[in-house]
Amino acid sequence: MARDWVQFIRGGRVVRLRAFQPRGTLLDWLRLEERSTGTKEACAEGDCGACTVVLARRRDGRLVYEPVNACIALVGQIDGAELITIEDLADGGPLHPVQQALAERHGSQCGFCTPGIVMSLFAHYHRPDRTGDRATVADVLAGNLCRCTGYRPIIDAALESCAGAAADRFAQDAPRRLAALAELDDGADVRVGDDASFFAAPASEAALAALLAAHPDATIVAGATDVGLWITKKLAPLAKIVHVGRVAGLDAVEDRADALVLGAALPLARAAPLLARLDPDIGELMRRFGSEQVRTSGTVGGNIANGSPIGDLAPVMIALGATVELRRGDTVRTLPVEDFFIAYGKQDRAPDEFVRRLIVPKPKPATRLRVVKISKRMDEDISAVMGAVALTLDGDHAAEARIAEARIAFGGMAGVPKRAAAVEAALVGARLADPAVWRTAAALIADDFTPLTDQRGSAAYRSQVATNLVVKILAEIAGVPADVTRVRPREERARVAS
Ligand SMILES: Cc1cc2nc3c(=O)[nH]c(=O)nc-3n(C[C@H](O)[C@H](O)[C@H](O)COP(=O)(O)OP(=O)(O)OC[C@H]3O[C@@H](n4cnc5c(N)ncnc54)[C@H](O)[C@@H]3O)c2cc1C
Ligand code: FES
Ligand code: FES
Repeated sequence: MARDWVQFIRGGRVVRLRAFQPRGTLLDWLRLEERSTGTKEACAEGDCGACTVVLARRRDGRLVYEPVNACIALVGQIDGAELITIEDLADGGPLHPVQQALAERHGSQCGFCTPGIVMSLFAHYHRPDRTGDRATVADVLAGNLCRCTGYRPIIDAALESCAGAAADRFAQDAPRRLAALAELDDGADVRVGDDASFFAAPASEAALAALLAAHPDATIVAGATDVGLWITKKLAPLAKIVHVGRVAGLDAVEDRADALVLGAALPLARAAPLLARLDPDIGELMRRFGSEQVRTSGTVGGNIANGSPIGDLAPVMIALGATVELRRGDTVRTLPVEDFFIAYGKQDRAPDEFVRRLIVPKPKPATRLRVVKISKRMDEDISAVMGAVALTLDGDHAAEARIAEARIAFGGMAGVPKRAAAVEAALVGARLADPAVWRTAAALIADDFTPLTDQRGSAAYRSQVATNLVVKILAEIAGVPADVTRVRPREERARVAS
């Protein structure tokens, strides 16, 4: 079954779009076509959250409310969802509790960020597992930049309105809205446009493979948190878009005894709790991966397929020995993630091949994993250096153990995410608790990498950081207390220097 339109629910009605620019963003559709100008545009790159809207979807028989940056989402991507914007919340009636609390707590000044903040909090209001603590609310708002109010009144309003939230009119109407969404779920292949220019969203892997074989020049889009920026910032004239978000099973998860298998189209937000179970460091990394909005749309497959030298997942996957599964036509092949990255901008993937799954081995009991992201800001920032270290020890006691196996990978240190081969070689067979081993191994970072200088860090800074990280991580695994290995506060360093 196929259809030549994209369909979604808006204000209780089904909208069917039969003609639109394949590369058209959701924000442009809202502001320029529908003329719903409550949703704002500021950065147009997914950073500030002024454009946040909510997509309600049916998952496991219930409604989920997901915040999305409309500026970098493609309008075709929202097929099958209910689109909720700031205009819908009060809709002529009383303010939504989130809006009411923001008004009463003086959580808005110029108001430009406010619609986006309201929509992020509206999504949070509907999360069954929402907690009413400040740290959680700060994470929820990490992708919403307010330049003039200050976050204290905004967070106060969030805590007041979301803790113990009563059923609003959206929750009261949930059964009818769920039924309406179920009717849209037709399992059809979608293709809007002609052979020269189209937006397509195949419903099966076979249809995806056939479409890519016929159009190897098409751009694959998953969450569009990278591709969206090619459109808004590079003005890339993408004529043929193949969206993988509707492919049945491409977001599937398999929790095997020895490995976690993640479908390429699995959004980062859904992958995060599963990855956190492998190791708490990965959980913390995922908390700091973009923002709620970015994690809701962005996918694990997109983070590997984009070939980025500074993607956060790649070093972790390489350290864990993960493999990537690709499909072209009917042929499926698997290769280690580290071999997928050939050179800057070049991956081992044919144009008509797609990433199907990531197979992530679970760390063994004797494996010690450490993951460290170095970025300029704590929240919503891309890594300058991203390090992942997996050591397998030959004994339980760190003080006596030798290192049986070492897998150390860095992002931001070369044109591709890459293993530190010389550092690893120096560690295998060595005694973990010997500080001389740490320093000798760390010095070999200079042999393994020749980093670039860019706006995120100079080559010298990156080399020094990676060297320090090797020492810090080895010391930590050897059992040196964390307060010794932790970076000293700025004031203390200044005092020592003077
Ligand atoms: C504000 C902001 C913050 C961000 N923060 C981070 C961060 O902290 N850490 C980080 O690593 N990244 C970050 N990113 C980058 C981005 O979110 C991630 O790389 C994300 O995982 C990309 O996934 P996606 O599904 O959106 O990919 P898309 O944008 O849809 O695609 C990215 C690339 O992968 C290809 N592709 C996607 N899926 C497949 C597939 N199944 N098969 C073959 N090719 C495919 C596309 O053709 C494209 O080349 C951030 C981005 C933004 C806008
Ligand atoms: S306009 Fe800034 S995130 Fe969309
Ligand atoms: S109220 Fe002005 S940017 Fe937030």
